[in-house]
Amino acid sequence: MSEIETMPQNASKRVFIKTYGCQMNVYDSDRMADALAPHGYMPTQEIGEADLVLLNTCHIREKASEKVFSELGRLKELQGEKRAAGGDMMIGVAGCVAQAEGEEIARRAPVVDLVFGPQAYHRLPDMLAQAQSQRHMHPALKKAVIDTDFPEEDKFTHLPAARKEATIARGLTAFLTVQEGCDKFCSFCVVPYTRGAEVSRPVSQVLEEARRLVDAGVKEITLLGQNVNAYHGTDAAGRDIGLGELCYLLAEITGLERLRYTTSHPRDMDDGLIAAHRDLPLLMPYLHLPVQSGSDRILKAMNRKHTAAEYLSLIERIKAARPDMALSGDFIVGFPGETDSDFEDTLSIIRETGYASAYSFKYSTRPGTPGANLGHQVPEEIKTERLYRLQELVNQQTTAFHASMVGKTLPVLVERVGRLPGQVGGRSPYLQAVHLEGATDLIGAIHQVEIIGTSTNSLVGRLVRASAA
Ligand code: SAH
Ligand code: SF4
Ligand code: F3S
Repeated sequence: MSEIETMPQNASKRVFIKTYGCQMNVYDSDRMADALAPHGYMPTQEIGEADLVLLNTCHIREKASEKVFSELGRLKELQGEKRAAGGDMMIGVAGCVAQAEGEEIARRAPVVDLVFGPQAYHRLPDMLAQAQSQRHMHPALKKAVIDTDFPEEDKFTHLPAARKEATIARGLTAFLTVQEGCDKFCSFCVVPYTRGAEVSRPVSQVLEEARRLVDAGVKEITLLGQNVNAYHGTDAAGRDIGLGELCYLLAEITGLERLRYTTSHPRDMDDGLIAAHRDLPLLMPYLHLPVQSGSDRILKAMNRKHTAAEYLSLIERIKAARPDMALSGDFIVGFPGETDSDFEDTLSIIRETGYASAYSFKYSTRPGTPGANLGHQVPEEIKTERLYRLQELVNQQTTAFHASMVGKTLPVLVERVGRLPGQVGGRSPYLQAVHLEGATDLIGAIHQVEIIGTSTNSLVGRLVRASAA
């Protein structure tokens, strides 16, 4: 494996990365920063001092996509100001919009120097060198460097590992992508086109990255994948390992205290993974398991390949293995052809399941997806009204879920200083933010905290027992 820890040759340049979209983009942005570090680029939070600005973009809904172009407009101005002051700034577009609209971005926004998709991140230093050589050309001859291939080679074996200091600076919780891409082709979704076919990283690669993270002080890892529970990695003996089995292997890493994974598809929630929830205390009782709709007719049109009843019986099996499992979901309202009665079925499945939290979206027509060609588009005002009703129901459930914690003592991973002086903050096993009075030396470990109240989006706690660590 070429994951060599390399020190920056000269750390004189600065890169600013702006991340949109899902957690996989958050992970990828860090990996891009890691790839650039050996070439002298250090991350900055100050866009004004950046020599290179990368937008890591999301194509999932129209609004997300359009943000890129408005941001590029602002960057053009900033670049102009920097040049007027004798400086310069390169601009790159990465992520799912880059993958989907590579040429179009370069055409619409000539200010862009590089456009590259998620499978090309290991080539970033080379692309940057090419783009730099173009900068001396006459503007009429200058062309953006575009790389939106799905290369044969595995980018993960070519991406350098994070330097230990970089991991430490990123905190006690970390993401680790184990699977990428999607073969499910839900009829509304661009991901199979922007991320490509489902690929799982080999078991040894995942374990090595996890050990490095833990070695740098990480206590909690969230395994990522567009369909993380479709993970099927190969181990050293050539055996096929599912996500459940991978969790058992990760659980053996000393110092790793919490494990989560996201996002899961109901069809890939197999017995092995459910058993892992029964057996492994480090596997946290919070599961993001999107169902999208409660109507069988709409589920079929969405190509989700399961029914509402199958989803509910799956939840029952999961709760039999882990009774305190908290659920989260995603919902789309206003999929083409969705009637009032279909929407009522969605509210019903929400009532029956009982969510700790949920994300909900108005259906957004995406070019190139089968859904874009369907008739019976739902009018915008109906989508708005349905979204409002759905969110009201989910908010009630979230509030009730938080309230049900009051009086309980929960293990809280204290991660940071709190909003108010004298406070620290962390997360419950159910991913709730918890604030409590306490000294900063509580940061970095799991402590027993009694929940004494709730505020809008978090819990208020009182330290019961600090852990020995
Ligand atoms: N792989 C995950 C979802 C990834 S996309 C899964 O299968 O559940 C994240 C969420 O965005 C989806 O769950 C869906 O609710 C929403 N979404 C995706 N495409 C959309 C579209 N065209 N319009 C509105 N919401 C969409
Ligand atoms: Fe998109 Fe469906 Fe794949 Fe999820 S499972 S990424 S919603 S196509
Ligand atoms: Fe968006 Fe791509 Fe993630 S479309 S949600 S950034 S996989």
